[in-house]
Amino acid sequence: MTVHFIGAGPGAPDLLTLRGRDLIARCPVCLYAGSLVPEAILAHCPPGARIVNTAPLDLEAIIAECMRAHGAGLDVARLHSGDLSVWSAMGEQLRCLRARGIPFTVTPGVPAFAAAAASLGGELTLPGVAQSVVLTRTPGRASAMPSGERLAAFAATGATLAIHLSIHNVSQVVADLTPAYGPDCPVAVVYRASWPDERIIRATLATLEASLAGAMIERTALILVGPVLAATDFDTSRLYAADYDRRFRPARATGRGTND
Ligand SMILES: C[S@@+](CC[C@H](N)C(=O)[O-])C[C@H]1O[C@@H](n2cnc3c(N)ncnc32)[C@H](O)[C@@H]1O
Repeated sequence: MTVHFIGAGPGAPDLLTLRGRDLIARCPVCLYAGSLVPEAILAHCPPGARIVNTAPLDLEAIIAECMRAHGAGLDVARLHSGDLSVWSAMGEQLRCLRARGIPFTVTPGVPAFAAAAASLGGELTLPGVAQSVVLTRTPGRASAMPSGERLAAFAATGATLAIHLSIHNVSQVVADLTPAYGPDCPVAVVYRASWPDERIIRATLATLEASLAGAMIERTALILVGPVLAATDFDTSRLYAADYDRRFRPARATGRGTND
């Protein structure tokens, strides 16, 4: 018996890995994390599967479900939205499973920030503009922020920021970021990326609050900030340059060795 943690992706039911789909199809128990996991993904469960929405359960009750399945020798598909490596609460569940000797596997999923970037039709790293993406959030009721992880400190790097779990906290985001990025820095809010009711709001730090006023965006939105969001005059990557020497396209004429 194994508990299979599966990243269920950002919303669109076909943004699920084949491995995730196949695991769901062979697990007689499915625990899924509430409204962010689309119902359509549950259609992959085998007939007669025990399907439990864990949104109203506490950690103890979720682990009790796993222990019951373990006692009965039934594999469990444990679904969380997006990918499991960020804000999935998988860590605390793994700690409990390890303590009880219950085996588990982890199957990644498409994270919300990647779905949002796809919806925007752009890249979050561009040569000469930004080469780092910071996945972060502002403090919430359930989680404080470690003291070194301040938005203003991340902003000082000039990296692209993907700010999660913070759409209720836009004034603070704007106040923290404006000194480093400037009021004209582009911002995109992507609400429910890849869902049928997805919406995109483009603004600058100066106009963000006004742009969101009346938009009724309360949760499940990402705030992306950084110069890449509007950059057109960026360097061309050397990767595809005709004279760039790399393993699969060696610049034999130059006589140089491979670089990549
Ligand atoms: C608990 S976190 C889950 C993150 C998830 N594990 C991931 O890999 O993206 C929930 C937050 O992720 C962001 N989020 C999740 N799904 C989203 C989507 N489809 N569109 C926009 N933001 C989303 C929102 O900021 C939301 O508040």
